[in-house]
Amino acid sequence: MKRLAILASGSGSNAEKIMEHFQNSEKGKVVLVASNKAGAYVLERAKKFQVPTFTFTKKEMEEGILLKKLEEEQIDWVILAGFLLKIPDALTRAFPDHMVNIHPALLPKYGGKGMYGAHVHEAVKAAGEKETGITIHLVNENYDEGKIIFQAHTAIDELDTPDSIAAKVHELEHKYFPKVIEGLL
Ligand code: GRF
Repeated sequence: MKRLAILASGSGSNAEKIMEHFQNSEKGKVVLVASNKAGAYVLERAKKFQVPTFTFTKKEMEEGILLKKLEEEQIDWVILAGFLLKIPDALTRAFPDHMVNIHPALLPKYGGKGMYGAHVHEAVKAAGEKETGITIHLVNENYDEGKIIFQAHTAIDELDTPDSIAAKVHELEHKYFPKVIEGLL
């Protein structure tokens, strides 16, 4: 049974779907939800699933407190689900090919610094794209540049707004992210 930790900074709707999925899995178990935001709603969602939580500041993470916690908890896989801080190199190096992120667009387009949350969907809309989607990828030292594991696409029509694009993308994320993680374990 692989031990999973989810890192998230916000609402955590993806984290919830992952916790739900792995309640009934023989391959993996979510044993930790960690966040750099003490008030993040993802922590409430973790409580609902009786998954232990851990919070830390950016500085503490850079000093190694998160890596220490992940090692103590004997984590096998680190799942980034809306985690907004740059992961320190020591942390990525500690989980080679065992850290996975979801990005709300079709990388390599609309990735990199500043491309998160609503900014991504606004840029996609402004560029007049006819489709967008999700990218699930391994994490390396450069944001959004690790090996792509999976992509799913969704069409955009003229009436779509950044909000409606975000809703379509979230739907894809919830549908595929837990299953793709399970496939990796
Ligand atoms: C998702 O769109 C994910 O792709 C991005 O951050 C968002 C997190 O949403 N990295 P939620 O907190 O899981 O609802």
